[in-house]
Amino acid sequence: MSAQKLSVVGFYEDKKIFITGGTGGIGKLLLEKLLRCCPKIGCIYLLVRPKKGKTSAQRLSDLLDSPVFDKLRCYDSEVFSKIGLIEGDLSLPSLGISDEDKEKLIRNISIVFHCAASVRFDMTLEEAVESNVFGTRRLLQLCQEMIEIEVLLHVSTLYSTCHKVTVDECIPVIPTINGSMDFNQNKDDFLKTIPLEVAKKWPNTYTFSKALTEVMLDNLKGRVPVSIVRPSIILSTWKDPIPGWVDNFHGPTLTVVNGALGIIRSVVADGKKIGDVIPSDMVVNLLICVAHKTKYQDTEEIRVYNICSGRQNPLTVKFFLKESQILSTMYPSKAAIRYPNWRFTPSELTHKLRSAVHHHLVAYIFDLVAFCTFKKSRLSRIHRSVSRIAKTTKFFSLREWIVCDRNVEILNEELSDKDREVFEFDVKKINWKAWLKDYILGIRKHLLKEDLDNLDEAIARMKKLYWVENIVQSSIPIVAFFIIYFMIKRSRRRH
Ligand SMILES: NC(=O)c1ccc[n+]([C@@H]2O[C@H](COP(=O)([O-])OP(=O)(O)OC[C@H]3O[C@@H](n4cnc5c(N)ncnc54)[C@H](OP(=O)(O)O)[C@@H]3O)[C@@H](O)[C@H]2O)c1
Repeated sequence: MSAQKLSVVGFYEDKKIFITGGTGGIGKLLLEKLLRCCPKIGCIYLLVRPKKGKTSAQRLSDLLDSPVFDKLRCYDSEVFSKIGLIEGDLSLPSLGISDEDKEKLIRNISIVFHCAASVRFDMTLEEAVESNVFGTRRLLQLCQEMIEIEVLLHVSTLYSTCHKVTVDECIPVIPTINGSMDFNQNKDDFLKTIPLEVAKKWPNTYTFSKALTEVMLDNLKGRVPVSIVRPSIILSTWKDPIPGWVDNFHGPTLTVVNGALGIIRSVVADGKKIGDVIPSDMVVNLLICVAHKTKYQDTEEIRVYNICSGRQNPLTVKFFLKESQILSTMYPSKAAIRYPNWRFTPSELTHKLRSAVHHHLVAYIFDLVAFCTFKKSRLSRIHRSVSRIAKTTKFFSLREWIVCDRNVEILNEELSDKDREVFEFDVKKINWKAWLKDYILGIRKHLLKEDLDNLDEAIARMKKLYWVENIVQSSIPIVAFFIIYFMIKRSRRRH
């Protein structure tokens, strides 16, 4: 049977699904889309761990209160009863799942979406391997026990092979000390087989652990049909369920937020390079379609789907940063402390000089004024953390990759017109200018929690910040002139 003749929506009828990472950016959009667009779906179990003093049940209830489900609530509020909770944690033996829940999963589940991962760039190699590689191995073991398993869909990253300029649609090759990789041994013994110089080819432990996970799935998948989806940098939604939905500060969003608030003025980035971003709803749509495709494909090999915009609809770093800056002044935040005016440079030295003045000096002045007026200011601390993060992200803002995304293109061509309309992931359709406007408005609304009601007030404040900025900037040369003038005069008098 060929995949193009089957409807994606029909495929999900009565299906019982297991999602990891349901509380994360991608996972919750996937849950929403499946429930809204595949109304005859059987049920969806979510793996949720207890965190920050909250039980898994409390976290699930908080999750479902999210505004991202508002549209679904209007469609069909009954549909939430199809969601089941599985308490567990990737880093625990047997995923920390109770015997009863395990039995339920083994008997019922046929599709698994693995979206969970530790995405911090500053993990130790041990932490990254434990959570991402061995966590996925535990999930794979569970899938191998599932009676009716049809698909394990693993979400990786486009940058799992970022040590090479070309990103193809293949599982990476990672050299080891003894020429093979044994993922069945314990973590410490496993880590001893990886030469440090190999791990260091990747810019951080996160991307390296994602590469290892792909190799592990390829080695151990057994009878489980596995596909891998590798998104580039995931940012706010394009359309679904609403344009501009964003609820985390991952990747460039933190830079844009800090820039819009006037906190940062300098970014290390090469404007000429392609900034490969992808709207989160397109990733979700692709995941849904890849699971359907995997079920009917005629190969047992793992197929890799690189979802990115760089080849088909490139967006330069310069356009992204400049346009976001302009939009942050058109739709400003009331919380801005300076007029948004950030510059980018590929030169570390220029960035350091700019940061010394515009970040660190300004932060000390702000903090000093706050201290003297008995107010709280944490600007210096924020800058220390911004500098730390910038060190880990510059690898990506200074480079670009040649990506092969043919599998995604082919899949899109194979879909029926109806499926293509419901599950859009054709990046050529994105108008970046319009998307950026929604992104900035989304940041304002969902991250900075400011509604459009206060826009006039925020614009009025922005105008004041603009004048303050201009007055300060034009007075600097005058003050500098007088200082130099008086210094020269004094030294002449001495002689
Ligand atoms: N964001 C991007 O730009 C990007 C780009 C390419 C690929 N990806 C990949 O896309 C996937 C989804 O990313 P995202 O943006 O949705 O990330 P996210 O918002 O940080 O969500 C990560 C999810 O993983 C869960 N998780 C982490 N460690 C876990 C553990 N030990 N046990 C159980 N759950 C755990 C988190 O649960 P808690 O809520 O309990 O922490 C959360 O639900 C990841 O595999 C990531 O590597 C992301």
